[in-house]
Amino acid sequence: MTSLEAKIDRQKLPRHIAIIMDGNGRWAQEKGQDRLYGHFHGVESVRDIVEGCAELGIGYLTLYAFSTENWDRPAYEVDGLMELLVDTIRNEVETLNRNNIKLHVIGDTNMLPEYARQELKEAMEMTSHNTGLNLVMALSYSSRWELVKAVKSIAEDVKEGKIDPATINQDILQKYLCTSDFPDPELMIRTSGEYRISNFLLYQLAYAELYFTNVRWPDFRKENLFEAIIDFQQRERRFGKTSAQIQEAPL
Ligand code: IPE
Ligand code: IPE
Ligand code: MG
Repeated sequence: MTSLEAKIDRQKLPRHIAIIMDGNGRWAQEKGQDRLYGHFHGVESVRDIVEGCAELGIGYLTLYAFSTENWDRPAYEVDGLMELLVDTIRNEVETLNRNNIKLHVIGDTNMLPEYARQELKEAMEMTSHNTGLNLVMALSYSSRWELVKAVKSIAEDVKEGKIDPATINQDILQKYLCTSDFPDPELMIRTSGEYRISNFLLYQLAYAELYFTNVRWPDFRKENLFEAIIDFQQRERRFGKTSAQIQEAPL
């Protein structure tokens, strides 16, 4: 165990970590390479971080891999990313099963090419029996898309008399989100030195601790993850209360 890993308090692990994996393109361009070269190397970081989370016993890891807005990138990059996604999923299913990891996908998957949808469906089925880390891939995802979809579904259910508008509360709204099966993220990490949320889990991040690092995603490794977790564990999460209240009755 590395010295950083030893500093992590196993009793205070975040249950759910969400990551905006950013900086692949700049990482490649800084090396005089094509942006796709950065995405390709980003997969090594995904592997390392997934393994790190599984080893620590983290319950949920959500990775923002492709946003709704990313469809507007040049076709060459979008096509390259789709191929990379399919190849990676195909190659990793065995490792996911060996490590008891269950794959989930959130996002507007209807936008994905058919071959990618099929590959994802098979991978989810093949890992559905696993009981360890829940790996949630946000693909063709954006929070505003998710919220609009939720509102539409609620409106339809109200129209059909399935729910009474007077009873709508946070628990009911939660059931209409793509993340209905997962607890809210407690720690959100964004790499590459950008300080924004870029349409990621806007509702679910309400009380998440945010951690920003300048490290580009292809350079992000377990040690960087451990640093983020240690930082998280030093924070006082007050949820609107006072510090004294939290110290009297820790959450
Ligand atoms: C993140 O890296 C991966 C995706 C958005 C698909 P970027 O491709 O955004 O890399 P930068 O931010 O341009 O460096
Ligand atoms: C956010 O990164 C989306 C993913 C990491 C998948 P972007 O690179 O697309 O975000 P912006 O455009 O810098 O806000
Ligand atoms: Mg980016």
